[in-house]
Amino acid sequence: MPQYDSPDLSRFPNALIKNEAEYQRLCQWAKDDYEGFWAHQAKALINWRTPFKTTLDEKDAPSYRWFTEGTLNVSEQCLDRHLDKRKNKIALLFEGERGDRQAISYLELYYRVCQTANMLKEEFQLEKGDRVVLYMPMIPEAIVIMLACARLGVIHSIVFGGFSAEALHERIVDAKAKLVVTADGGFRHGQPYLLKPTVDQALAKGCSSVEATLVVRRNHQDVKYQPGRDFIYDLIVNEYETSCPAAELSSEDPLFLLYTSGSTGKPKGVQHSQAGYILWAQMTLKWVFDVQETDTFWCTADIGWITGHTYTVYGPLALGATTLIYEGVPMFPDAGRFWQIIERYKVNQFYTAPTAIRLLHKEGADLPEQHDLSSLRVLGTVGEPINPEAWQWYYEHVGNSQCAIVDTWWQTETGGNMVAPLPAWGGAKPGCAMRPLPGICAEILTPEGEKAKADQKGLLCVTRPWPSMLRTIWGDHDRFVNSYFSDVSYQGKAVYFSGDGALYDQDGHIWVTGRVDDVINVSGHRLGTAEIESAVAKHDDVAEVAVVSCHHDIKGEAIVAFVVLRDSSYDDIELKKSINTVVRAEIGAIASVEKFFMWSTPYQKSRSGKIVRRLLRSIVRKEELTQDISTLENPAIITDLESAVSMTKT
Ligand code: WT7
Repeated sequence: MPQYDSPDLSRFPNALIKNEAEYQRLCQWAKDDYEGFWAHQAKALINWRTPFKTTLDEKDAPSYRWFTEGTLNVSEQCLDRHLDKRKNKIALLFEGERGDRQAISYLELYYRVCQTANMLKEEFQLEKGDRVVLYMPMIPEAIVIMLACARLGVIHSIVFGGFSAEALHERIVDAKAKLVVTADGGFRHGQPYLLKPTVDQALAKGCSSVEATLVVRRNHQDVKYQPGRDFIYDLIVNEYETSCPAAELSSEDPLFLLYTSGSTGKPKGVQHSQAGYILWAQMTLKWVFDVQETDTFWCTADIGWITGHTYTVYGPLALGATTLIYEGVPMFPDAGRFWQIIERYKVNQFYTAPTAIRLLHKEGADLPEQHDLSSLRVLGTVGEPINPEAWQWYYEHVGNSQCAIVDTWWQTETGGNMVAPLPAWGGAKPGCAMRPLPGICAEILTPEGEKAKADQKGLLCVTRPWPSMLRTIWGDHDRFVNSYFSDVSYQGKAVYFSGDGALYDQDGHIWVTGRVDDVINVSGHRLGTAEIESAVAKHDDVAEVAVVSCHHDIKGEAIVAFVVLRDSSYDDIELKKSINTVVRAEIGAIASVEKFFMWSTPYQKSRSGKIVRRLLRSIVRKEELTQDISTLENPAIITDLESAVSMTKT
């Protein structure tokens, strides 16, 4: 097996960064003239209504402002500017789980977005700065509504359809949304499922800001509509004009909010801007994915996550590429579905998560060979560290050893790829994110703010602001400063700390080792331990709980709960099930606990009352314990715990 990828480099004749010298030249340019570098890119990739005056304003650091006094509209970048050259080009390909299909041209998408924007404005009186929450399946209407919001300067906040009514409620209330957009439901695993009743439940918990809901009919299930509050999208949208002026927005106006987990129980509304975000979405697609004019790009991420925002919707459309969306699950009707879709649409770039790669490998290692996947040039992975075995299978069996594998490290907060291999390089190592992209000052630092040496584990930081960084946490600017700019200083300045650990290898390449804070990554989904703990603790029989992660072959990490029960006489299996029912109602199925360790005596805290998560994690992972256990409130239980763990499968 090759140690490094050696894709067929002749397949990237138009790559923007063709070789090492070109990479070094760009890095040097950014180093010598940071603002000049970024100003050049912003002029080249954005059609400005009013040119910006200042490239980077650092005076209120860490509240950085980019491209100030410039005005633009992101929906114009994604639609209007393509109408001259590409009006009949397909912007959006849709494949429903049951095989229904749509191909939507740029002109058609433009008409639909304009009609929808007019409807939002006239029917729902939405204005610049208002918030709209989307709780949607992966269907074209979701993208139309995102772009319609962007057209008006309305801020969208998409909540992943797998979240519960409680989680949806919390996000609607925090964003003070005026409108919630949903669908009756969608299709998954060959079956219709419902979304609208979850919205009803969320609203029933009290969302005083919400004036109306808009429902797209997708699966025509029998859901209830509340007259006066609920509106059916397809019954009203066609009444509106197919042209709608795009609002002139400032570079720094918010484009969207996206809630993500942090180390406290309350999710953070990550706020992104207009210009910096749309600039970096395009640049990374060109550099990392080598997207060319005739390419079809497929990112499998749901629009409920940042990957879906940047690489399913905004990036490809801003570039005028063709983007593909698929409504369903990878396993329907079998583990060959993704390969069938790639073959059918002749997909050129495919971007997915390690968890999906591992699942498809396990369930159908030979299935890619049954399809013609020769259109593929770049295979991307994101969301968690990829194990070398999965990487190797992806490279050889999906990519036929001819494609570049790009292991892209980034976060909801960074807006786009930060550390990633470049396709025309060759030499990417399985499981290694390689090097920062030009202009990105990602560095591994020690907690004291020194640059880490080779093989020394450190903290992955970004030492200069970059255009697509988050601007704030919605409604809580202090939390923004405290969460990201208070842990690490570098050369006397507070720098952005990602929450990830990483190390440089002997070649100076970056290996991301995973979160070092209280965040767990299950199947590439980010969950806070505090969030899960507070859900588990809502169960009547639970006195105390501590949550950590363990290794999982498919999901990467899985959730382990150490529970202290109020009483010892419970039926284990039933109790575990009922705790998970509570977790599903509080957060969603993605937060279900995989393994429980339950006692009725307190054991998972130190005498000072602090949960000893690191110790518990070492026990679960069967690592040698280096921690001092004498400070525990009940040190004697460690032996019991270790033997309980040794009896479970890891
Ligand atoms: C966290 C961010 C970025 C879009 C999807 C997840 C982990 C992300 C990689 C990678 C190792 C990775 C990190 C990061 N992560 N990409 N290539 N290698 N780890 O976005 O929900 O904001 O999660 O995902 O731990 O901090 P997110």
